[in-house]
Amino acid sequence: MSTRVPYTRPSITELEVGYTTDAARNGWGAQCYDYIIRFESLFRDYIGASHGIATSSCTGAMQMGLAALGIGPGDEVILADTNWIATAAPIMHLGATPVFVDILPDSWCIDPAAAARAITPNTRAIIATHLYGNLCDMDALLEIGSRHEIAVIEDAAEAIGAQYRGRPAGSMGRFSTFSFHGTKTLTTGEGGMFLTSDGDLFERVLTLSNHGRDRSQPKQFWADVVGYKFKMSNVQAAIGCGQMERISELTDRKRAILNAYKARLAHVSGIAMNPEPDHCLSGAWMPTVVFDAATGVSRDTIQAAFATADIDARVFFYPLSAQPMFTPVPDNVNAWSICERAINLPSYHDMTDGEIDRVCAVIEALAAQSSNGPDAAPRD
Ligand SMILES: Cc1ncc(COP(=O)(O)O)c(C=O)c1O
Repeated sequence: MSTRVPYTRPSITELEVGYTTDAARNGWGAQCYDYIIRFESLFRDYIGASHGIATSSCTGAMQMGLAALGIGPGDEVILADTNWIATAAPIMHLGATPVFVDILPDSWCIDPAAAARAITPNTRAIIATHLYGNLCDMDALLEIGSRHEIAVIEDAAEAIGAQYRGRPAGSMGRFSTFSFHGTKTLTTGEGGMFLTSDGDLFERVLTLSNHGRDRSQPKQFWADVVGYKFKMSNVQAAIGCGQMERISELTDRKRAILNAYKARLAHVSGIAMNPEPDHCLSGAWMPTVVFDAATGVSRDTIQAAFATADIDARVFFYPLSAQPMFTPVPDNVNAWSICERAINLPSYHDMTDGEIDRVCAVIEALAAQSSNGPDAAPRD
């Protein structure tokens, strides 16, 4: 009997355990921020941003960043229809309106032309989500942002280790957000980071992140504005410090797994995987297979095949606009079509070659069935 292949599992070594134990034993009183300060400094230097604030989640980092830009009722924020709800929820909580646009067929990230068409006098920001470690077209988005004087924000939750023209994902926008959830390339269990090189914006988010207390405020327990409590704990940051010492190992392994899949599946026709154009280095967070529409292979068929093979595979994000709280935008044809025939493959750090083979065998069987079996004919 085979053992189940998980799609994700963190890599925690004695290094992380040692730091966490130290934080639990000694990280109190005057030492209660030591690991947080170290983690913020290691991470912002790695990405190349001037300022970083560790948070309880990427969602919290996004909400504080948007709030610090003054985004609120009547404002619109453009983002790709293909996204996790975490990117849209902060916009809603601030009383602003998310405007969902289509994705590009190859990178599965926001289509810059569609974003430009969606701009109105109320548009305040465009969020560039680097989906599954793929890169958004940042040159085009930054040009649109500067032409219309709109902030371009990077949701880099899934893009640790990714690079665009040699620049790390998360170093190009007005601000960027990262996630260290247990499924991410670098984890602190739950957690996130707000990064920016804009000193004024940093100060505003710092105040918001500290329950609205300005750091120059001499009075204790005195809030200057209503803020948030989205902080990371010292114990979580201790795990993060260990992970940062291993960051190359963690990101290299993600890329090695994606490349192993690509090599192993190169002979299979009718599928596409995470693209890596010359100017991009993929973060490879989620190796993903998209079946061509002509194969007739559907999400249900794919999920059933992986379940039978005892392999955890994750569905491609449904369009956010298809979900009950939003108005459907089926004109976002790529976002609405690709998710119907795509799957995220397992890619955890300690995955074995044998497990990669098992995953590839499922994809090969699905592809063979599509070209030889009853579903062979392309559908209208
Ligand atoms: C693209 C994207 N944005 C935001 C988030 C939210 O991250 P967190 O769970 O740390 O709030 C995630 C997490 O899965 C994500 O994938």
